[in-house]
Amino acid sequence: MNDLAARDFFSDEAIAQSPYEYLDHLRSRNPVFREPHYGVVAVTGYQEANEAFRNTADFSACISIGGPFPPLPFEPAGNDISDRIAEHRHLFPIFEHMVTMDPPEHTRARSLLNRLLTPKRLKENEDYMWRQVDRQLDEFLGAGRCEFLGDYAKPFATLVITDLLGVPEADRERFRETLAGNERSGRRPGALDHEPVGRNPLEWLDETFSAYIADRRRTPRTDVLGTLATTHYPDGTLPEIIDVVRPATFLFAAGQETVTKLLSSAVRVLAERPDLQQQLRADRSLVGNFMEEALRIESPTKVDFRLARRSTSLGGVDIPAGTVVMLCIGAANRDPRKFDDPGEFRLDRRNAREHIAFGRGIHTCAGAPLARVEGQVTLNRMLDRMSDIAIDESAHGPGSTHHFEYEPTFLLRGLRDLHITFAAA
Ligand code: HEM
Repeated sequence: MNDLAARDFFSDEAIAQSPYEYLDHLRSRNPVFREPHYGVVAVTGYQEANEAFRNTADFSACISIGGPFPPLPFEPAGNDISDRIAEHRHLFPIFEHMVTMDPPEHTRARSLLNRLLTPKRLKENEDYMWRQVDRQLDEFLGAGRCEFLGDYAKPFATLVITDLLGVPEADRERFRETLAGNERSGRRPGALDHEPVGRNPLEWLDETFSAYIADRRRTPRTDVLGTLATTHYPDGTLPEIIDVVRPATFLFAAGQETVTKLLSSAVRVLAERPDLQQQLRADRSLVGNFMEEALRIESPTKVDFRLARRSTSLGGVDIPAGTVVMLCIGAANRDPRKFDDPGEFRLDRRNAREHIAFGRGIHTCAGAPLARVEGQVTLNRMLDRMSDIAIDESAHGPGSTHHFEYEPTFLLRGLRDLHITFAAA
């Protein structure tokens, strides 16, 4: 029997390497389809995923990262389990971070982060990116080749967040070493599906940032951390130190792996398509759409989860309270009802930007503007400073049979490593 829908999405290594055939098959059965192993309802339709993202009355974000793992800490019963979720909130993985919160707690946590992500801060951060991209390219440009994730993408994504948060210059190298690992390895340190940057780095971050904030509450300063330390909630109250620290440290969990995956998938396309390199060099205004299409075709957050808190329906399918719903972002962004020839990378796709790679609704990615700029700055400087960007065939095999390995996780979609060659322009 070769029934694709009977395979186990969560543990099947072949599906992790190549998920789209499976996800397309589920959509062809029904854009809202209950998989047989965990009873998880997989939403592979664009319209249906949008609807679920926006429906916070019926869907809770409490399981947004782990989905069916671990199982619910209670046995759901009845048509409304909101109270049971509230009673067990502290037992859900990363309950202390905003991505798993529901209003009103989510609204309060997000308001603190919004105070940080001002247009002025984002502009300063972009200026930093232009300097940082050159510093990093200088490290390996002369070699004519690199392993793009370890040599560039991962340290870049980490250092951009340290800058955004105003980590003192003297401490940044320590962040790079602790969070981006050995720059030549191309491997992340200990990140598991349910622990976006691993347990120890998150604890280390909480301690480090708590010390920064406590220091600035004792001795006020006007730097970014100083501003964060004195930020109040909209109602005028001063948050506990840990409540300021968590939105800050979560940025590392949310913005390192995802950006690394975006940059590497975009550069893979660039390296495989000299025609696109030529078009982008001729007209840099196309770089923005190139990044949108890269986000659509290989969405770094492959799936995201919600728990039905009230019995409801989605796409005509009944969803009893207690159902784990898997919003398959990577599949919604390849829904042929929304995107023509969805498996094709089209630089001129008119609706590319309508992808939902950053989610939708109240939890829409807070770092989306940052991630977009990281992609555009990187691509522009690579096009400025490199010519003949190509896949390194000594690592990925020859021509039409290039072989790539992906991280074996059900949550994210991204290359394990990417070896490229180029000439310094
Ligand atoms: C290509 C890169 C990125 C992708 C694909 C991505 C994707 C996502 C998605 C899909 C969500 C929604 C989760 C949900 O609804 O359950 C999200 C939330 C979030 N992202 Fe990103 N993200 C990226 C980069 C970043 C960066 C660079 C940062 C910050 C530095 C960031 C910070 C956040 C935060 C704080 C949330 C939680 C928002 C909330 O719960 O209100 N992300 N991201």
